[in-house]
Amino acid sequence: MEFNTSWASPSNIALVKYWGKKPERVQLPSNSSISFTLSHCKTITHLKYKEGTDLSIKVTLDEKDEPSFIPKIEQFIKRISHVFPFVTSGEYEVNTTNSFPHSSGIASSASGLSALALCICDIATKKGLLNSKDFYQTASILSRLGSGSASRSVFGPLSVWGEHLAFDGSSDEFAIPYTNASAIFNNYCDTILLVHKGQKSVSSSVGHNLVDNHPFANARFRQASQNMSEIKRALESADIDKFIAIVESEALTLHSLMMSSNPYFILMKPNTLKIINAIWEKRKISKEKWCFTLDAGANVHFLYPSEDKEMAIQFIENELKQYCENGAFIHDCVGSGPEKIA
Ligand code: DP6
Repeated sequence: MEFNTSWASPSNIALVKYWGKKPERVQLPSNSSISFTLSHCKTITHLKYKEGTDLSIKVTLDEKDEPSFIPKIEQFIKRISHVFPFVTSGEYEVNTTNSFPHSSGIASSASGLSALALCICDIATKKGLLNSKDFYQTASILSRLGSGSASRSVFGPLSVWGEHLAFDGSSDEFAIPYTNASAIFNNYCDTILLVHKGQKSVSSSVGHNLVDNHPFANARFRQASQNMSEIKRALESADIDKFIAIVESEALTLHSLMMSSNPYFILMKPNTLKIINAIWEKRKISKEKWCFTLDAGANVHFLYPSEDKEMAIQFIENELKQYCENGAFIHDCVGSGPEKIA
């Protein structure tokens, strides 16, 4: 039998960061994390799957063959095979496009692997192996096995992954939607300032592994847990000062962990720091409560409430854009999660 399915799944940006995996089982986080699900930065994946006895995989990105994605998909299939044994054989044709430029330095693993996981869940549903009640939770489990942060892309507007007492129903196995934030956070803006569009020098997977023997690991996991409790209070009471303090500290802690691991490495670029300083300077001289966060890369996510959009865009044009590679940035905002494409 042949199945066709298409999903659009968004990227996400962590506010409290996942950095480090529990050693005992595949793809479980050392600490819980929370993210904004994005709206415009997404991957659209069409999967054509034909049942069969052998395994074959063809992948295109923007309609061009992309064999470099095949090993990651093979690893994904292996890791999810205990959930759906049918996946280990058959003909896969994966056609994928990203709404953001491939060379933007934006990680596509969260959107890409969650889109593929949703397609697989759709096929499992059609095969009678999955009911609608369990659909999104199973999609989040499969996404996590593909890439940890992908587990959170399955839900919006915010999403929590990793067991934490303050978040009812949270789990290391899958993410859950977090819907109790004050309304201001449900349409928050995130302009991604593209400081460096090339491939990053050290992958997230390598970075996660370096946390295993990191001298500050335990202190970091305690801090992350405390930040989860505190950001929850800040999100629910719309305490933006507290929100900013946690989000910026988390971003800098993530990069401090990289700089203090063995071997050490730096993913920020000089212009990353120039942007951070410009945002801090602006906050000092005006009442606007704008802040930044960072991914595992040089790009800066500039975060601001949607009611400040016009002024923030002016600030980007006048002061931040000069630090972006070829003046490039992407306006995005908090979104509601993946969509099935008819
Ligand atoms: C810095 O989810 O990309 O973006 O599980 O190895 O695929 P793997 O790692 P990945 O790590 C993301 C790390 C981060 C922080 C975060 O998104 O929480």
